[in-house]
Amino acid sequence: MKFFVDTADVAEIKDIAATGLLDGVTTNPSLILKSGRPMLETIKEICSIVPGPVSAETVSTDYKTMLEEGRKLAKLAKNVTVKVPLTPDGLKTCKALREEGTMVNVTLCFSAGQALLAAKAGASFISPFVGRIDDQGHDGMELIHEIMTIYTQYPHFKTEVLVASVRHTQHVIQAAKMGAHVATVPPNIIRQLFKHVLTDNGLKAFLDDWAKTGQSIL
Ligand code: E4P
Repeated sequence: MKFFVDTADVAEIKDIAATGLLDGVTTNPSLILKSGRPMLETIKEICSIVPGPVSAETVSTDYKTMLEEGRKLAKLAKNVTVKVPLTPDGLKTCKALREEGTMVNVTLCFSAGQALLAAKAGASFISPFVGRIDDQGHDGMELIHEIMTIYTQYPHFKTEVLVASVRHTQHVIQAAKMGAHVATVPPNIIRQLFKHVLTDNGLKAFLDDWAKTGQSIL
């Protein structure tokens, strides 16, 4: 399973990338706002830090302008993945950009039917927003299960399921159990994945005992 980090904060991206476990990055207009930085410059910088796919989102709703924005974003770096919304114009843009060889992430997916359309449009990634579905009192992970079931029936679909709107570590674990290809995870949740109180306690006990031996390895 690939791990993307869901942030436009360059310092956070560098920190997570240093673990050697980071496969890509996702951003969106809200994350760009939060970063307080110009989008194009930020995406370019992120692309130079992380060699994997870096999602940069279009902000128009009509096909012509969205395609123009997508082409401009794609020129920023080889690893830019253009993000388009799951609308008829978004999917039309997806198809056109894919034919030009650009990676596309179709975002704001909330149903299995939408995911099916995105695969038919040749999306590189489909982003179902599990946390936002949970927020509505439904089960976001059930959608991942449905999409994985559908995609598995059609091995010629090359679209990867990118679990988005992740709110806690269980979302990541459940996504992995279902065989989802990617999870895009906020930095604090990636850090939580490392943590276990028994790891901390166990390490402390080993180090205390090691100190008592008076030995050193180096
Ligand atoms: C990532 O591609 C999405 O834009 C992001 O995961 C949305 O997360 P949110 O629901 O926490 O805003």
